[in-house]
Amino acid sequence: MEKSLLRFLTCGSVDDGKSTLIGNLLYNSKKLCRDQIEALEKDSKKHGTQGEKVDYALLMDGLASEREQGITIDVAYRFFETPIRKFIVADTPGHEQYTRNMVTGASTCDLAIILIDASKGILTQSRRHAFIVSLLQIPHVIVAVNKMDLVDYDEKIFDKICNEFKDFSAKLNISDIHFIPVSALEGDNVVDSSENMPWYRGTALLPFLESVYIRSDKNFVDFRYPVQYVQRPNSKFRGYAGKVASGTISPGEEIMVLPSEKTSKVKEIITYDGNLKEAFAGQSILITLEDEIDISRGDMLVRKSNIPKGASELDIMICWMSEKTLDLSSPKRLLLKHTSRTSNVFIDKIDYKIDVNTLHREESNELNLNDIARVQITSAQKLYFDNYKNNRRTGSLVFIDPITNETVAGGMIRSERRAASIQSTGSVKSKNITKIEFDISQAMLEQRNGHKGAILWLTGLSGSGKSTIAMALSNKLFEQGKHVASLDGDNVRYGLCSDLGFTPTDRSENIRRVAEVAKLIMESGQIVICSFISPYQKDRDFARSIVPEGCFFEVFIDADIDTCIERDPKGLYKKALAGEIRGFTGIDSAYESPVNPDIHLNTAEESVEDCIDTAINAIKHL
Ligand code: ADX
Repeated sequence: MEKSLLRFLTCGSVDDGKSTLIGNLLYNSKKLCRDQIEALEKDSKKHGTQGEKVDYALLMDGLASEREQGITIDVAYRFFETPIRKFIVADTPGHEQYTRNMVTGASTCDLAIILIDASKGILTQSRRHAFIVSLLQIPHVIVAVNKMDLVDYDEKIFDKICNEFKDFSAKLNISDIHFIPVSALEGDNVVDSSENMPWYRGTALLPFLESVYIRSDKNFVDFRYPVQYVQRPNSKFRGYAGKVASGTISPGEEIMVLPSEKTSKVKEIITYDGNLKEAFAGQSILITLEDEIDISRGDMLVRKSNIPKGASELDIMICWMSEKTLDLSSPKRLLLKHTSRTSNVFIDKIDYKIDVNTLHREESNELNLNDIARVQITSAQKLYFDNYKNNRRTGSLVFIDPITNETVAGGMIRSERRAASIQSTGSVKSKNITKIEFDISQAMLEQRNGHKGAILWLTGLSGSGKSTIAMALSNKLFEQGKHVASLDGDNVRYGLCSDLGFTPTDRSENIRRVAEVAKLIMESGQIVICSFISPYQKDRDFARSIVPEGCFFEVFIDADIDTCIERDPKGLYKKALAGEIRGFTGIDSAYESPVNPDIHLNTAEESVEDCIDTAINAIKHL
């Protein structure tokens, strides 16, 4: 069987021992060429800071000039392998002003190692790293507490750092996080478990990296194929070259070309090593089609039944990477690169900047180096995208200065622009309306309630257990003294939405109204539990887009259709299967499963109690 590949990123402050750690991994994976090792041993004696010991750091700080400067610049990629797995490490320097390199290195990573110096504890830079890792949605995080040898391998110091980090990261959206105490220099817990820290019962770093499960982290659902170039060696052959950004595709499948919306079928999938029966995310291929249609660079091939969103006005998170300040007092045109398409773009407005230490929002009219902000942009060309949360490839953007050609920012798409998405569902008809700010603010209400307001959006098939989980969850939260409110699909259809049926348009309107109501209740400082089939991702994304970051949780109540049919609590599947109800979700109407839910509960396999524990744990920081 072919070995799997893990791409990971290391982030640490200067002197945290990052280079030493990776050097140690490389050295000990015993895959270094003999001559590299000899050169290293020679270099260690000459430049090394470790006396006769091998200076692992020299392995990483590849360029001589960097060695002389004492800091590493830019992203360096290293490859190593063990008998179990292959690895690519993106090493990004931790110097404060080089955070941007982390963004560059992180976009394709499966895992991030955040290094913390045990003798110094958590620094601003560590918080920044945690924040960016969560922003970039890197699926797995290891916090390596390094230099344990300098603190006498003290468990208490390790625990203190872990707790402090957990407190901070609870406010972030990091799904999988592990803490490992190490000494990169002495080798404790790097490759083998350390005898100096018998109190640590977890795995050492390398075995952890070898065993972390990654396949499911890629998006294999939504087929997206940005065309990089068209090959026409003669009038008979026309092939479209590119890399599958996400999903899978096979010959014979029907595709649609965006933006032209023309359709055809895949004829062949060609590679250097012969034709493929199936291509999937990450593969570089050449596609030929059954029909001759006009396709050019920058177009995107998708499956007809699963098309991305198309918009030119977007709501994004941006990380400003240029030394030059962006001043929005006058409009600024930049170039935007999205998949294989380049377009002119305007940054229209900064909603807020984020202080990475406190996670507080700040108003601002300019972006400086390393600033992270939520902004609204307008692109000259329509972009076909997915939210970054669902698809890191089609959800990310790069901004370029059109004059200097410098990459000035990286962006992650949250959604279509808020005003634009409201217009596409129900525009604001009224004129002469003014927003009223009440004296009693949300923050005051939250303070009195003792917790933050939030929306738990339960989505799933009919019979998947939404109402059961909602009820148990609301009981539990009530017991904990939390302020909780519930909105349920069947209930609102007796009143607020009594004029709506189950056509796709009516379902979208149903969700729009409920999302707006949920937002109002949330603003009163309550935790709102919404249980709606809400079958379309775009509607759930809308519900997320109208509230601030971090207070909306998409909860996938997952039970396969057979289980739901078997449960059939209301006898509706029976009717739908007999043809008595038309357009029933899961039978003859679509349900789009969340690709990347905040909370995933499998009610077919887990007990209600276990599901509730998982959910409560995911929101305990509120
Ligand atoms: S949604 O699609 O608009 O989100 P919602 O959650 O409000 O649906 O309502 C779903 C409930 O309506 C189901 O639990 C079921 O009891 C009832 N229902 C009646 N007809 C349908 C239908 N065609 N599809 C799905 N649910 C239906």
